[in-house]
Amino acid sequence: MKILAIDTSCDETAVAITDGRKVLSNVIYSQVLLHKKWGGVVPSIAKRAHEERIDFVVENALNNFRRSTKILSRLNSSPDSVGVVRHLVSKNFVSRLFDNIGAIAITQGPGLAVALEVGIKKAKELAKKYRKKLIAVNHLEGHIYSAFVQNSQGNPKQDFKFPYLVLIVSGGHTEFIIFKNHLEYQVIGETLDDAAGEALDKAAKLLGLGYPGGPVIERLAKEINNEDFHHFPRPMLKSNDLNFSFSGLKTSFYYFLKKRETSEVKFEQNKVRTSEVKLLASSFQEAVFDTLIKKTEKAIKQTGINRLIIGGGVIANMRLRKLMRDLVKEYKGEVLFPSYKYLTGDNAAMIGIVAGFKAEKNLFVKDINELDRIPRWSL
Ligand code: KG4
Ligand code: ZN
Repeated sequence: MKILAIDTSCDETAVAITDGRKVLSNVIYSQVLLHKKWGGVVPSIAKRAHEERIDFVVENALNNFRRSTKILSRLNSSPDSVGVVRHLVSKNFVSRLFDNIGAIAITQGPGLAVALEVGIKKAKELAKKYRKKLIAVNHLEGHIYSAFVQNSQGNPKQDFKFPYLVLIVSGGHTEFIIFKNHLEYQVIGETLDDAAGEALDKAAKLLGLGYPGGPVIERLAKEINNEDFHHFPRPMLKSNDLNFSFSGLKTSFYYFLKKRETSEVKFEQNKVRTSEVKLLASSFQEAVFDTLIKKTEKAIKQTGINRLIIGGGVIANMRLRKLMRDLVKEYKGEVLFPSYKYLTGDNAAMIGIVAGFKAEKNLFVKDINELDRIPRWSL
């Protein structure tokens, strides 16, 4: 069944069209530039940007779908131009494209309430207008399934070998889940405060590196071979559970920076020198990643599962991927990452893929009017 999926859970307006595990069309409109100067996502700006862009993103996704599947190709000959999008708006054209869509999938949570609402409203509107069933998806399920998302040619082909130990590492989440079977999850550990990506973002902000912090920190750390010069604390490693806590690390980083400012000669009017920034960024990243690796090792030992899936924005990081690969090698296991870079961050393709499995089990929304966002929806 072909599914049109929408995700507006945070700062990406995303729409995709999927068929089983294949992505036929995928559009992501990132708001990152709008939030950059504020050093993080501003809810009111996110809401407005989603509202302004959602129609455009839906139309673009439909247009890519038309081209990739050659549906209605007779109706349009000018690819890629804004004219195509305008042409698409014609009611007849869109409704004929919707004839090929079996259902609409929507991220119901977790995420930013005002942002989720925009996508849900649009999904309901389209479902009613084109008489489609609605499928509600948990955003975290999307990050789990992102390792199995295929391109339109059906690659990568790897099949499911349950159970998996999943680690989601994003800006909003850091948690361990046992992925037992399709749509069957058990959360076995999570962060008690900040998420790993959030910690990286906050550290980057303290260093004046802008938002989002993860990619900049990765680049700076790589330039000095990921040196762990300062050896910042690794939180929660002594506890026996599989929970995380990154806010203490952030605070100790903050006081470390403050102390340096007052005790040492102030570099360049209070700004830390570039080489210093690299050592600080790299050491902070190592503290976060070492914590993730040690806890993952603990999770492998406790669950006896050595097949891993890692999802979420932070796994775009090549250093973390390498550390995870090295870890599973020790346990003769394997680790799966999202197969394409766009799948590490927020996107609607992963939501569509989950929805495909839900459709197979007839898990449609019973009453569309009753559907509401669940900002703190856990698995
Ligand atoms: O999954 P995602 O796009 O959004 C959420 O659902 O939170 O994750 C965003 C997070 C941000 O904290 C960002 O700094 C982090 O992922 N991130 C990275 C990298 N790219 C994005 N962290 C480390 N290294 C990266 N290359
Ligand atoms: Zn996400």
